[in-house]
Amino acid sequence: MVSYSCIGISTVRPSCRRILISYKRSSVFGFQIPISNRSAVINLSKSRVSPGIHTCNSIVLGFRVDPKLGFRDVIDLNRNGFCCSASNWGRQPRVLLNGCPVGVYDRRFSRLVFKVASDYRNHSTSVESHVNDTSWERIYIQGGLNVKPVVIEKLKSKEENEDKLLDYSRSDVNTEFPDRKESEIEKEAWELLRGSIVNYCGSPVGTIAAADPADKLPLNYDQVFIRDFVPSALAFLLNGEGEIVKNFLLHTLQLQSWEKTVDCHSPGQGLMPASFKVRSVSLDGRPGEFEDVLDPDFGESAIGRVAPVDSGLWWIILLRAYGKITGDYTLQERVDVQTGIHLILKLCLADGFDMFPTLLVTDGSCMIDRRMGIHGHPLEIQALFYSALRCSQKMVTVNDTTKDLVAAINNRLSALCFHIREYYWVDMKKINEIYRYKTEEYSTDAINKFNIYPEQIPSWLVDWIPESGGYFIGNLQPAHMDFRFFTLGNLWSIVSSLGSPKQNDGILNLIEEKWDDLVANMPLKICYPALDNEEWRIITGSDPKNTPWSYHNGGSWPTLLWQFTLACIKMKRPELARKAITVAEKRLSSDKWPEYYDTRYGRFIGKQSRLYQTWTIAGFLTSKKLLENPEMASKLFLEEDYQLLENCVCGLGGKNGRKKCSRAAPRSHHVI
Ligand code: GLC
Repeated sequence: MVSYSCIGISTVRPSCRRILISYKRSSVFGFQIPISNRSAVINLSKSRVSPGIHTCNSIVLGFRVDPKLGFRDVIDLNRNGFCCSASNWGRQPRVLLNGCPVGVYDRRFSRLVFKVASDYRNHSTSVESHVNDTSWERIYIQGGLNVKPVVIEKLKSKEENEDKLLDYSRSDVNTEFPDRKESEIEKEAWELLRGSIVNYCGSPVGTIAAADPADKLPLNYDQVFIRDFVPSALAFLLNGEGEIVKNFLLHTLQLQSWEKTVDCHSPGQGLMPASFKVRSVSLDGRPGEFEDVLDPDFGESAIGRVAPVDSGLWWIILLRAYGKITGDYTLQERVDVQTGIHLILKLCLADGFDMFPTLLVTDGSCMIDRRMGIHGHPLEIQALFYSALRCSQKMVTVNDTTKDLVAAINNRLSALCFHIREYYWVDMKKINEIYRYKTEEYSTDAINKFNIYPEQIPSWLVDWIPESGGYFIGNLQPAHMDFRFFTLGNLWSIVSSLGSPKQNDGILNLIEEKWDDLVANMPLKICYPALDNEEWRIITGSDPKNTPWSYHNGGSWPTLLWQFTLACIKMKRPELARKAITVAEKRLSSDKWPEYYDTRYGRFIGKQSRLYQTWTIAGFLTSKKLLENPEMASKLFLEEDYQLLENCVCGLGGKNGRKKCSRAAPRSHHVI
């Protein structure tokens, strides 16, 4: 039987003072704590030292223990094996790399292990599903909390090095790519990236959003943003440096369950913060002594008070990237990490009023974090959602407790993929179809399901759409198609195979064809075209930062470069990425690594653009690294999953089914 151990330490001072929590009957952090274990050394979300901040060394560690196999082996679980419908998912085993994916790394790594002070086998815990408890997120822990704390240590001896957690050290880098010479710009970028590292209790945990020494009013740009850290993390991982990424994943995991409120309302536990800050606070009654605290922002301070829906999705995507690149799968298998994934998914998969499989969100809940008319079902969130679901599918440990979750993931993936491919895709042919749509159709097999009035086709699109190629539109709602081209969503549709191979190719064709509109002097436009005049006034609320061709409204964001590079490598068109990098390289360093560029062709540094913006720097470095090592890049993207396509979740789409399921109805032949 697979069993789990969850061990916590909580020390708030360098003196390692522990917090003892008495449990009555509690369900915290997704775990049901049995009455028999009333006392445990643990730090859980509701038991913080002081509300709103997170102090040094509070960490919950968990790991999976298989009594037969011990720590070492990972069980190959059939993650596709559960599905609500009767369709046959078949096995899709994960390729397991015990240790390091690239052989050359093995020998030299210094390693981290969790040293368990007690005999963990004697204290191992089992996971059981609750009888009559249909919620898949609950995990029942038996008898395992009353153990001594876990200590994280760097081990030195050869013997201890046989343990398997990896920490890629910098010295490995040059041996991995011996012939490669860094350009002066790259050297500068690395220096700046390292300069942006934020430490917490002496360990690196992230990078600040921007580090312009001349900036007197950094607002929240001196914080570690979850989404901004992703390219930094990848640059470090691709450079053989895993520690900062692991720390980041674990510390943000702890922030996830923070008690958070906006005017007495609390969002769901799975919400990840948009950003966090490390503050140094003085210790009560100890003048001159300070400690580090983590201070997260879930949107309660953010301009517009927007909940960052994308943060949790990025966290999952990064967790998988960490495993794939380092070969350290033990992180994703830990109980606390698994619980983190469950909580995020619980929020995303919760039942609501939705008629669509897409996630319903407020405006500005992603990279575009202020009002830009992207409320509803914006493509960016859907593409990240799909990517995160696919990553979760490969990471969620399958057992009786999680089988419903796995089924929910599979069903949603299948429905979401169908929905986006079918209804978000536009090309010359589809626009012509919409142009001739009949409206006000009342029936289950209407052609124009969303009652789109052809008059909605904007005049710019009529001339802009190329003969070949196409893209996914920005948003779809009843009687509303947002025809703007949003870059991030389209790129992640490629990376995650949300789009079909043909569609994905079509997107790159369109970008190539519309190079002057989407790349021009700086890759890449965040969206195209810009809103202006009345549209700008109504949709942005007259936002002076989002004026036409500036910032989120058609500005050019160099950080999109790494995502473009990844998409190009996946579609076997690296030359396109190389071309874009060459364009960026001409200016980024001399312009001091701006956050974004303005004007229709990206000629000016953005009006309010920060300089030395970290994700611009990291995005550039990551693009270079990916191009240099496409094999590593391939670990980050997801190929077409044919099982997903075959599965019709509602069971009505089969040959003998009633013709109620849209998916059985005839559809545009070009789509799937
Ligand atoms: C802006 C961007 C957002 C980014 C943040 C920090 O608010 O819109 O995407 O995360 O700056 O760089």
